[in-house]
Amino acid sequence: MTSQPLRSRNWFGRQDLDGFAHRSWVKSEGFSDHVFDGRPVIGVANSWSELTNCNAHLRQVAEAVKRGVWSAGGFPLEFPTISLGEVLMKPTTMLFRNLMAMDVEECLRAYPLDAAVLLSGCDKTTPAMLMGAASADVPAIMVTGGPMLRGNWRQEELGSGTDLWRLWGERRAGRLTDEELCEAESCMSRSAGHCMVMGTASTMASMAETLGMTLPGNAAIPAPDSRRLQMAELAGRRAVEMASAGGPRPSAILTANAFDNAIRALMAIGGSTNAVIHLVALAGRVGVPLPLARFDELSRTTPFVLNVRPSGKYLMEDFFYAGGLPVVLRALLPLLDGAAPTVNGRSLADNVGDARNWNEDVIRPLGVPLAAEGGLAILHGNLCPGGAVIKVSAASPQLLTHRGRAVVFEDHADLHRRIDDPGVAIDETSVLVLKQAGPKGAPGMPEWGAAPVPARLLKKGVKDMVRISDARMSGTSYGTVVLHVAPESAVGGPLALVRDGDEIQLDVPRRTLTLEVAEAELGRRRAAWTPRPPHFSRGYGRLFLDHVLQADEGCDFDFLRGRTPVKYEDSAGPSHA
Ligand code: FES
Repeated sequence: MTSQPLRSRNWFGRQDLDGFAHRSWVKSEGFSDHVFDGRPVIGVANSWSELTNCNAHLRQVAEAVKRGVWSAGGFPLEFPTISLGEVLMKPTTMLFRNLMAMDVEECLRAYPLDAAVLLSGCDKTTPAMLMGAASADVPAIMVTGGPMLRGNWRQEELGSGTDLWRLWGERRAGRLTDEELCEAESCMSRSAGHCMVMGTASTMASMAETLGMTLPGNAAIPAPDSRRLQMAELAGRRAVEMASAGGPRPSAILTANAFDNAIRALMAIGGSTNAVIHLVALAGRVGVPLPLARFDELSRTTPFVLNVRPSGKYLMEDFFYAGGLPVVLRALLPLLDGAAPTVNGRSLADNVGDARNWNEDVIRPLGVPLAAEGGLAILHGNLCPGGAVIKVSAASPQLLTHRGRAVVFEDHADLHRRIDDPGVAIDETSVLVLKQAGPKGAPGMPEWGAAPVPARLLKKGVKDMVRISDARMSGTSYGTVVLHVAPESAVGGPLALVRDGDEIQLDVPRRTLTLEVAEAELGRRRAAWTPRPPHFSRGYGRLFLDHVLQADEGCDFDFLRGRTPVKYEDSAGPSHA
């Protein structure tokens, strides 16, 4: 049935001692001789975990994938990967994204797999799996777990994270009781799935779909919707075809044009700032140069059309009912490379050609966008020589050009200790500066960027302030928040030199971020600056600190960039002790 040799035959097709061992031990699971008849072996890489609530339903999704694999004549073998649960994992899942990518890459290489179906969901699980598959370059198709159903509290629709921050702000301002907050807690997260705003998980699912690594329409199907399982079954069937044909492999799909397409889609949907880091890291795996400037360039000519929180009004469920990502991609086709290949063997344009928009308030037509330009902007200036990112679509328009005096917090603990201290001189014109929150400084570059507005200002009705850090921000957050400042403060970037009272000028239309301090004075501060001791001296943390790249380079490890494609003879050598 196959059109080219299968890697798995080097394990299961051998008539020698190794072949005996490989088959015999797999038979211990109850499989009969039929599974060794030359059919493709499909790995179902599952990031299921009860500690990753967003992925807790992926065992069921895996069953649907396996059903598809069996029905198409393949042999599915499900295996666990490490899983990164955004909410429970400390200090941040970003510390472990590269570890998960390594896990996925090495399992794809080490096991007898002809193709893989990648099951992801929560924020970092999607880029980690894509990065691992890209480096191993095994034919792979992704199925994400889908967003939760809408939250609903007292007739009010609640979005994950986005409304959490809002309700918590109300509580701090004294307008909500603890009892009301507790009730809202249950009403916000009411089904399986990942955050159901256009946060990082929804964004990365949309990126995977635009890049061509999922079947069309995958990103927005709600987790509990039966069509999610149907799509999983179809992905399993398609993986068998890909294994038999030997492709397409990720290297054939993840081209420079595919990344441009993804950036366009990112801007059109008002996606998460985290996607900038993940796309740069993924591009690094396949040798595609992706400077931050490319994001800004494409942002300026891509309309922002998706009316979904945190940059809009609706939720992911509404996006699905409106037609989902294919509608956005179809509208964007004049700006995209429609000939880009995708995992189903068709081009991007072919996949979305029939998409219809069922709700033009959720997905605005290109001619009446929410904004003429994309949702993200890249900043440069003496405060961020390596660049910084701001989500314009989630910022306050009146703060996009702002000059104010810095109020500096030396680290996250300092921020939380003093933000509500009446002795700290802060008003609505202040610029909150947070240090030690980058890849090495925090460590792991947590989502601390949307620092809280002081309670006394919240009570006065101030909802937003300019905030600057080397941290990331949750894709569900909003506000005038400058992120990913590079180089970070922990390695002596200019952010480390900012002091209370310094004037900072943010000018988003001009794409600049300027510390208004004379270079001679900065030189004196630089000479006096000393780094803090490293967070780790051993283990994975040490590996991370020694090799993590800065935000503008995607925070990948320096030695993980590029590919080591699997080979037909990967099973060579001792396999059984
Ligand atoms: Fe998993 Fe938001 S916590 S996607």
